[in-house]
Amino acid sequence: MINVSILGYGTIGSGVFSILNENSDIITKRNGEKICVKSVLDLRAFPGDPVESVLVHDFSEIENDEEVQIVVETMGGLHPAYDFVKACLEKGKSVCTSNKALVAEFGPELLNIAEEKKCNFLFEASVGGGIPIIRPLKTSLAPDEILEISGILNGTTNYILTAMAEQGTDFATALKDAQDKGYAEKDPSADVEGYDTCRKIAILTSLAYGYQVDFEDIYTEGITKITERDINYAKKLEAKIKIFGSSKKVGDKVSAMVAPSLITSEHPLYGVDGVFNAILVKGNMVGDVMFYGQGAGKHATASAVVSDIMEASKHLGINIKTIWNPDKLSLVPFKEHNSKFFVRLSGNSEDNAAKALKAFGNVIPIDAGYDDEYAFITMNMSEKAFDKAAREVGNVINKIRIDA
Ligand code: HSE
Repeated sequence: MINVSILGYGTIGSGVFSILNENSDIITKRNGEKICVKSVLDLRAFPGDPVESVLVHDFSEIENDEEVQIVVETMGGLHPAYDFVKACLEKGKSVCTSNKALVAEFGPELLNIAEEKKCNFLFEASVGGGIPIIRPLKTSLAPDEILEISGILNGTTNYILTAMAEQGTDFATALKDAQDKGYAEKDPSADVEGYDTCRKIAILTSLAYGYQVDFEDIYTEGITKITERDINYAKKLEAKIKIFGSSKKVGDKVSAMVAPSLITSEHPLYGVDGVFNAILVKGNMVGDVMFYGQGAGKHATASAVVSDIMEASKHLGINIKTIWNPDKLSLVPFKEHNSKFFVRLSGNSEDNAAKALKAFGNVIPIDAGYDDEYAFITMNMSEKAFDKAAREVGNVINKIRIDA
């Protein structure tokens, strides 16, 4: 029998508890050994809940329980999650977590301790919720050089952008709707400002290339400036606006960014709408591979955690090597990133057409029926060249990169 402890009986922790109970037969059959929840740490009491009989309030009870081989961390946040996870790994207990902030910040250090102590630090649920992506990157795609990762990695923002496009609502209304439906947090900034996506692409890029990518080094732009007009221009172009976390191999460096992008129907992620997430990985041998599913939610995310528990239980005393060097990956400076841009200038169209041509060079105008502004698509240009041209014209209302 394998004994598991769960740190944190919130949405994901209680999901893990319920899957291990509800799917116990199938899990035991596939795992070869029964997995039991020996204890659950939470400061709260849960009268009447099945967890009551295994509830503990003191972490040391789990840390010092030699019968517990695997610990699940579903507390979220950095502290005390980091301290608890580190203590468990140092005792040789494998840890499975859904905590992307913890993984993005302390991944290499915790993996290193796990290697030393011959246990495992696993984090399938930290990116893409229930979508298998971490293990495929580490195993199925291991023979390949990864050329590109593009992901719709945040369900809240994808829901908001889909609602704006399909229902014609503005950002504030779509956000309120997402909050009412329980998709968006009361403080939605981590999602709508792109920080959540940023941590997820930092983790995927670190794993793909084996070196640390600090999320602070990734240029990150959220969706708060996207308006109904931007959406209407996108429709005119038969395109959609999606927020991507992406990274791409450029020579011996990697470019990484989080930003809204315009994509047309030829793009493989065009059909990914609502709360769904998808990740496109391009390998130099396998070509394009796509992963699609629920990027959040109690059972989807908990299912990924349970898959890690099963993996850890099959590798007791054996470390599964994960290459994530603490040295920094060499990133392409943001100003050197290249793309086409969709641009809107305020004011009279005739003046703007001449100004745009002078500052941006050849552009393709787009008419969505607004006579108080002028919109166009640039040729391929660097961020640096774009900024220079935007300063020259002086009246850019908004710009969105185009992902071809
Ligand atoms: N807030 C995240 C999302 C949850 O909306 O995708 C999963 O990390």
